[in-house]
Amino acid sequence: MDETIRAKVESLLQQMTLSQKIGQMVQTERMVITPAEVKAFHIGSVLSGGGSCPGDNQVADWVDMNDAYWAASMEADDEHLAIPIIYGIDAIHGNNNVSGATIFPHNIGLGAANDPDLMEAIARVTAREVLATGVDWTFAPTLAVAHDPHWGRTYESYSQDSALVARYSSRFVQGLQGDLGQDGIVATVKHWVGDGGTTHGIEQGDTRISEGELRGVHMAPYLPAIDAGVLSVMVSFNSWNGDKCHGHSYLIDYVLKQQLGFQGCVISDWDGIDYTADSYFDAIAIGVNAGIDMFMVSEHWRPFIEHLSCHATHGTVSMQRIDDAVRRILYMKFACGLFDKPRPAERYWSNHESFGCQEHRDLAREAVRKSLVLLKNEDQLLPLAKDARVLVAGKNADNIGHQCGGFTVAWQGTSGNEFVVGGTSIWQGIQSLAANAVMSSADGEDADPAQHDVAIVVIGETPYAEGMGDIRDGDDVIIQAGSQINGKLKTLEPYGSSLVLEDLHPEDLATIQRIRDKGIPVVTVMVSGRPLVANSEIDASQSFVAAWLPGSEGQGVADVLFGDHAFSGKLSFSWPQTTSPVRVSDTGYEPRFPVGFGLE
Ligand code: GLC
Repeated sequence: MDETIRAKVESLLQQMTLSQKIGQMVQTERMVITPAEVKAFHIGSVLSGGGSCPGDNQVADWVDMNDAYWAASMEADDEHLAIPIIYGIDAIHGNNNVSGATIFPHNIGLGAANDPDLMEAIARVTAREVLATGVDWTFAPTLAVAHDPHWGRTYESYSQDSALVARYSSRFVQGLQGDLGQDGIVATVKHWVGDGGTTHGIEQGDTRISEGELRGVHMAPYLPAIDAGVLSVMVSFNSWNGDKCHGHSYLIDYVLKQQLGFQGCVISDWDGIDYTADSYFDAIAIGVNAGIDMFMVSEHWRPFIEHLSCHATHGTVSMQRIDDAVRRILYMKFACGLFDKPRPAERYWSNHESFGCQEHRDLAREAVRKSLVLLKNEDQLLPLAKDARVLVAGKNADNIGHQCGGFTVAWQGTSGNEFVVGGTSIWQGIQSLAANAVMSSADGEDADPAQHDVAIVVIGETPYAEGMGDIRDGDDVIIQAGSQINGKLKTLEPYGSSLVLEDLHPEDLATIQRIRDKGIPVVTVMVSGRPLVANSEIDASQSFVAAWLPGSEGQGVADVLFGDHAFSGKLSFSWPQTTSPVRVSDTGYEPRFPVGFGLE
């Protein structure tokens, strides 16, 4: 810790009362706390859960909201010390909650781009679009090393290859935090630790692996980020060999803080401590004593403050631990320049005209191009001629909401073109390059070989986030996982029960076959948050492109389909051909396409 900052932290810490210290350890949701309560209870942070947006979700609404919270937090009086609030959001692929933001490809596509320089550039632009809204903290980047496509958060992972994730982690942190002056925001690496390795890919499930694999695969990407000075780490919902990470003092206090020397703020996930014990009172002591510093409390911040005050009074949580937590929170706030900044309404980037600008969108379009992976291209059908008579079909062809995926405007994402303001659908991109392209009905019924030389069929998944993206073969996997966890397993309604695309979305294969059976060659573009077993769809297509979740700039897909740019993307996840074995570490696992595959 910088000595100047250390002196400021210690000086402020000495002035703080117990209630002011405990207040700083609370992060709660904007819908359950007012600026007046932020002051009265000395709250350290406010957040937006996915899709929790002020006013009309315009940039100005966000600045006004943050200005009000900040002003209240800085109104010193006999009871309250001026310690600036810090607002946190999930800006995980651009400032994705806010209307008009540039939406970048989700991490799975960025992994296929295999371009660390691009990561830093994306992070820098994301920081500016976050600062434009008066926000100083994002819960990104995710450093998950996802090993099982059943997991609903696979798309938040750059790769199944830990080394690729590690190559990205410090660059993305550097892009977000910069020199921690007016251009930087606090980055959060998450989720500590082993979120991508749970059995059956169950979100919040149990990662049952050796410590050697946990360190070598899942912890490894955090080391470059810590060396790069990342200011916060978010604890993971998952368990490690039955023990909840949110109560794991070995993983948090010993490994992360003592062994790896992390000096910033450890924050819980959304009510993450609640699942460590039956009683909230006990859960709070478990979480604080495990080494968590700030607690993301979606609603019950008053009981949290009461219970922790009681623990402090009775010694079941030591003042030394509380002081360590507050020291780290203050360090994060000083280090990101929060004490030196003017109020949000008066900051350089607030309401800045560069929000969602064409330059930012061009960067996102470049990322889309680099993320595309060509898996099949019989007779070199691609690239298409721009004067070809192209029929475009498929449910994801003209749907910006679907191409953005989860954590876009709403937590679970959106459907249609009206909710994501700005950008282009894949169809709109094709239309701009190919004068003779026509939009079919989604199912391709009107395909006619007399009128159409080739078809582009855009298929795949519809948006989801977190556990609602899980694919579970049945409730037995939940029962088995739950039986191995000390604590409570919170499962959400899954996306489906099969890794086979034609089981999940039979409309896709039907559309491809309907058009192909009329003698029209098909270029299939798959929009999805993960690889799926898609043998029938691949076999029925003459060309097949994995587009992942490209975000708002669908134009980037057309740029490559019509040859303005070459395919360069390489799989950062292997592509399964069977539903079992399907984990990269399973004996006998034989993917249809291995990591690193991609035609050019
Ligand atoms: C969610 C996610 C986490 C996110 C947090 C705030 O449950 O697990 O990644 O940052 O809550 O939305």
